[in-house]
Amino acid sequence: MSQDLAQKIAFITGASSGIGLATARAFAAQGARLLLAARRQDRLESERATLAGAGDVHTLQLDVTDHAAVERAIAALPQQWQAIDILVNNAGLSRGLDKVYEGKRLDWEEMIDTNVKGLLYVTRAVVPGMVSRGRGHIVNLGSTAGRMTYPNGAVYCATKAAERSITEGLREDLLGTPLRVTTIDPGMVETEFSEVRFRGDKARAAKVYENIKPLTPEDVADAIVYAVTRPAHVNISEVLLTPVAQANSLLFHRTTK
Ligand SMILES: NC(=O)c1ccc[n+]([C@@H]2O[C@H](COP(=O)([O-])OP(=O)(O)OC[C@H]3O[C@@H](n4cnc5c(N)ncnc54)[C@H](OP(=O)(O)O)[C@@H]3O)[C@@H](O)[C@H]2O)c1
Repeated sequence: MSQDLAQKIAFITGASSGIGLATARAFAAQGARLLLAARRQDRLESERATLAGAGDVHTLQLDVTDHAAVERAIAALPQQWQAIDILVNNAGLSRGLDKVYEGKRLDWEEMIDTNVKGLLYVTRAVVPGMVSRGRGHIVNLGSTAGRMTYPNGAVYCATKAAERSITEGLREDLLGTPLRVTTIDPGMVETEFSEVRFRGDKARAAKVYENIKPLTPEDVADAIVYAVTRPAHVNISEVLLTPVAQANSLLFHRTTK
């Protein structure tokens, strides 16, 4: 029997925008209770109105790169929010497009701290409770970038390759428990991702999505909902989804006007 999300507690990191927000909306539509985290709590609050159907919503101002803050936030959850059923490790970013030998150290630090260490910190804080309750599903956001490195993106790609290894290892480590572990690996999705990568340069970000139909955040949320609603004995290990006009990390088909 497929699983029902009604009243399940879903903790989504990076829920203030893009894929995280679309996932929150899709889970809300199925009656889930939403624990939503991001640095911009004001954005989480202003999106409450778009979370129709949610059992309940609790927002957290949280920077996943701050391990002490992550531990504190999870330990301090109100009693009725502690039994997290689904963790979506979605918070992530890219910074810049540079050759490795010309890269900016602070960009590297931020990507590794967020996409790799942040994912580990949140996982370490949440999963022990799932193990002791004997139920839970961890969904990590990977990328086509973790499967094939593209030029000028080595460090971002490396963080997503790390996500792939961590997801695989977590699944191995949880073998023998009822917990499930999934990586969702999208290709190009139109979100704030490129604007963040180019530090607010909207024109440059818009060029990424020019003359091509990218995935929408809702397309990715749909894959996440699919993974978490399978019958309890089914583990969707990975979902790789791209726009039709994208073959892999390197090959895109753009229409000419
Ligand atoms: N867009 C794509 O083409 C694409 C493709 C494959 C995979 N992905 C992955 O999908 C995930 C979501 O990205 P998106 O495309 O939806 O981008 P987005 O629209 O920029 O959303 C990123 C989210 O991550 C949050 N975040 C960033 N740093 C954080 C931190 N230190 N602590 C807490 N939250 C943080 C942001 O919230 P605040 O700024 O409010 O903290 C925001 O809610 C990322 O892991 C990304 O690598 C994206």
